[in-house]
Amino acid sequence: MSDTVRIVEVGPRDGLQNEKTAISVADRIAFIEALVGAGLDTVEVGAFVSPKAIPQMVNSDQVLRGVSHLAGEFHVLVPNEKGFAAARQAGARVIAVFASASEGFSRANINCSVAESIARFGPVLSRAKADGVRVRGYISCVLGCPFDGEVKPQAVVDVAKALWDLGCYEVSLGDTIGVGTPLKARHLLRAVAGAMPMAHLAMHFHDTYGQALANLYAGMEEGARVIDCAAGGLGGCPYAPGATGNVATEDVVYMLEGMGIDTGVDIAKLLVATNAVSRLIGRPPVSRVAAALNAKKRIVSSE
Ligand code: HMG
Ligand code: MG
Repeated sequence: MSDTVRIVEVGPRDGLQNEKTAISVADRIAFIEALVGAGLDTVEVGAFVSPKAIPQMVNSDQVLRGVSHLAGEFHVLVPNEKGFAAARQAGARVIAVFASASEGFSRANINCSVAESIARFGPVLSRAKADGVRVRGYISCVLGCPFDGEVKPQAVVDVAKALWDLGCYEVSLGDTIGVGTPLKARHLLRAVAGAMPMAHLAMHFHDTYGQALANLYAGMEEGARVIDCAAGGLGGCPYAPGATGNVATEDVVYMLEGMGIDTGVDIAKLLVATNAVSRLIGRPPVSRVAAALNAKKRIVSSE
């Protein structure tokens, strides 16, 4: 396998959007600073969505402005033109639009059909292009939907092609409810790579059924090289009942380093960031690697 993987850290957005505890702007900024300090240079930091839909992401403008001095690439979610205008006012240079491969989730998450969502993104992409803003495209429910059940790969291919044709520089495939298994992930990537370049596909796998690392490995064997993950395994979508967090960044970094792939991430510093945010939300990290490293630290410090 070639030895370059790009990591997109989504903890401050996907990770915190589902938390019951309100996290202050200052704490969100401190979390992002710690992530960047650990070597994660691409971080999704917020969302310009309806505050009724996702109250956790209010004040994303303050968060984005608050990290602008850091050397990193900061992404924010944008569902429509209203979100685009607000994101631009806050200085966004990279945004992400988000569609679904299934109708049920599209309706629940963004209150429109899949076709309507693509039509809605058209003007957003045009405005982004005019402003020199890069646009990432997400597709949710690529390996299953909490409302519609099985999702056919062709449905994902169609949405990926639409987002690519609209001008998204990268399409991130979301296993929103973490139901995928390695062979399905592999077949999906192969199918989507028939419609757009593999180099521009990202894997965004939630870990509900504990399959995310195996699915990532299978995707890497197909040639995928961009991985979305969240520090500590934080995350979930309020519109995906029962889904847990993204694959943990610690677990991904540990696996990649074990494969001889240099991620540029300092796992000890990442653990400090994860432990700090875990204290804020009042739960230990679900990451197995974070738990193992924390246990090791405790043993060493008690010796
Ligand atoms: P709607 O109700 O159809 O929209 O919601 P609307 O245009 O009729 O507006 C309704 C209200 O929302 C109005 O306010 C608008 O001003 C306001 P009111 O008059 O009632 O006071 N509004 C906005 N406010 C702030 N920013 C905006 C905005 N747009 C409208 N951009 C809408 C449609 C898309 C807005 C709504 O459903 C929404 O915000 N949904 C976001 C849901 C979301 O953020 N989900 C989580 C992220 S996706 C995810 O986690 C999956 C992912 O991780 C990949 C994966 O894992 O699969 C990316
Ligand atoms: Mg997600």
